[in-house]
Amino acid sequence: MTRTRLRRGAAALVLGLAATAAVAGCSGSAAASTDAPVVGVAMPTTTSARWIADGENLQRQLDALGYTVELEYAEDDVPTQVEQPQAMIDNGADALIVGAIDGTALKDVLAQAADKDIPIVSYDRLIRESPDVDYYASFDNWRVGVLQANSLLQGLGVLDAAGERTAATGPFAIELFAGSSDDNNATVFYNGAMSVLTPLIDSGVLVVPSGQTDFATIATQGWSGDVAAERMATLLPAYQGTGLHLDGVLSPYDGISRSIIETVSALGGTLPVVSGQDAELDSVKSIVAGEQYSTVYKDTRQLAEVAVSMVRALLDGTEPEVNDTTTYDNGQKVVPSYLLAPQLVTVENYQAVLIDSGYYEAADL
Ligand code: GAL
Repeated sequence: MTRTRLRRGAAALVLGLAATAAVAGCSGSAAASTDAPVVGVAMPTTTSARWIADGENLQRQLDALGYTVELEYAEDDVPTQVEQPQAMIDNGADALIVGAIDGTALKDVLAQAADKDIPIVSYDRLIRESPDVDYYASFDNWRVGVLQANSLLQGLGVLDAAGERTAATGPFAIELFAGSSDDNNATVFYNGAMSVLTPLIDSGVLVVPSGQTDFATIATQGWSGDVAAERMATLLPAYQGTGLHLDGVLSPYDGISRSIIETVSALGGTLPVVSGQDAELDSVKSIVAGEQYSTVYKDTRQLAEVAVSMVRALLDGTEPEVNDTTTYDNGQKVVPSYLLAPQLVTVENYQAVLIDSGYYEAADL
């Protein structure tokens, strides 16, 4: 404890000095002297636009505080992601922000961080089975799944625009896709979505012709669009030339949604209603073009703000602000969390939500 207090007290002092230097006219990076706190940021991949934006947002906001930032991407390779925080610890990191690939793989390296009183913030994806995760910055992930399922139902006409049940009885043929099973979020999204869809499957309004509904069967390793496209292709024969029309697809993430749409296009006819997540630019374009039906927008600028303010509080020796202390049990502890609100985006509101907020420029689309 004493060591913690001393270390964090010292960091606070350094931060104060860095802030003074910044006021004196130095840029954030210039203010990051050798004494500035070092924050290691370990991100999962650059194959998805959102994680690139996350890294940039974190870098910019940490720079502005005068911290030295060590940002690494592990390109979805788990051993690499174990090595990167290890190197950050060895290089004297004062705090870590980690967007995990495999939520269970970081236990040992994080134990070493904890031994050195290096605070750890789990970023967007919960790090599992480690008692050393201090805080979790994310979105309400259950709600993400609920929004995806509700939008699927709205696209099918089972719910109206206000979210009220219509008289439609179907049956509507849908297929289900989930995210990567090593990412805790994937299960939470799935469970949230199924809380909405299961009663309608049970009552026959929705049918899943493949019969594939359990998480393990419908999970998509590495959130890979190619993996999802391959599975979609194996489901197509049930629809091709049989008269059965695929009405909707629950998709957990935009990269998967676009691959599904591409694969299903081979069927011809009207595209199914396809959900998504992350408001990736290509998916927003697809929504505007009338292909992908919806996405779930999560403002990564705000997520970075939450994580950075947690790190700042921890380095200052104060308590980070949280708004959830019950939901995220990682198998070793309930990790105190700050959960932001996700928002559904369709062709109806993309202008207001994504353009008017400055997340994208109209010219980007
Ligand atoms: C999840 C994240 C989603 C999406 C997905 C694939 O953990 O919460 O927003 O980015 O990974 O990268």
